[in-house]
Amino acid sequence: MSFGLGHGKPLDTAPGVVGVSAEELGPLPDNVLQDPTSAWVDIGSWFPVPHQPLEIEIGCGKGTFLLEHAQEHPETNLLGIEWAGEFWAYAADRVRRRRASGSHENVRLLNADATEFIRWRVADGSVRAIHLYFSDPWPKKRHHKKRVIQDAFLAQVWRVLETGGELRVVTDHPELWAWDESHFANWTGEAHESPARGAGGYPERPFELLAYDAATTAGEGELVGSNYERKWRREGRSFYSASLRKLALAASPSSDRS
Ligand SMILES: C[S@@+](CC[C@H](N)C(=O)[O-])C[C@H]1O[C@@H](n2cnc3c(N)ncnc32)[C@H](O)[C@@H]1O
Repeated sequence: MSFGLGHGKPLDTAPGVVGVSAEELGPLPDNVLQDPTSAWVDIGSWFPVPHQPLEIEIGCGKGTFLLEHAQEHPETNLLGIEWAGEFWAYAADRVRRRRASGSHENVRLLNADATEFIRWRVADGSVRAIHLYFSDPWPKKRHHKKRVIQDAFLAQVWRVLETGGELRVVTDHPELWAWDESHFANWTGEAHESPARGAGGYPERPFELLAYDAATTAGEGELVGSNYERKWRREGRSFYSASLRKLALAASPSSDRS
């Protein structure tokens, strides 16, 4: 139980039902470095309908986008990952209360560092979409290494997405966006232009860069409809957005999104 964001009311994360429990996650095996696949978890088994497509939201905060997206897409399983315990508990409690009225069976909440979870626990080609909205900008240069978008992270995103799957990104922060775009360029350009992506295993262009299609959860004039988007819109900020679509090993890019 947690009380923080509940304003005195206890927050119940419903471990094993809404909040992902330590037992469901399991320990990292000792031989993970020799056999990385040994640490992969069957994320589908955390949901009542295991074989539905899986989407992940990194840093779901209080969960407004996650809850609305889950309700609009019952045919999709949604895993929200939030490393701040109070926000994770608040979002999980919101899901638990909606489950009591018969909805939101397709959403679970994990309290973890999403980049580490994706790196170690997620199987190849198992994710339909990764959502990253209003990621922390970490403006000081010595903190840039904490930003979610890094070349090593984009390598992992490419590994875990299905072919045609997307990383969907929106931010209000111009300097973070310049950073994101320069890293996206390493993964959307031709191989010889992109030494940062390292050697081997990728198609000539790992991702296709697409304009961001507004989410179905977005209200009038919005892109996503998350808590932070609504907060920053009230302040009149500008927004920056894109989707990276994973290309197959032999695929050529296309602008057809159908
Ligand atoms: C600025 S808030 C945005 C919340 C939400 N996406 C929105 O648009 O309203 C960023 C959130 O990402 C979380 N976060 C940042 N890095 C994370 C990571 N590596 N893994 C999980 N959560 C992370 C933070 O704790 C914070 O709640």
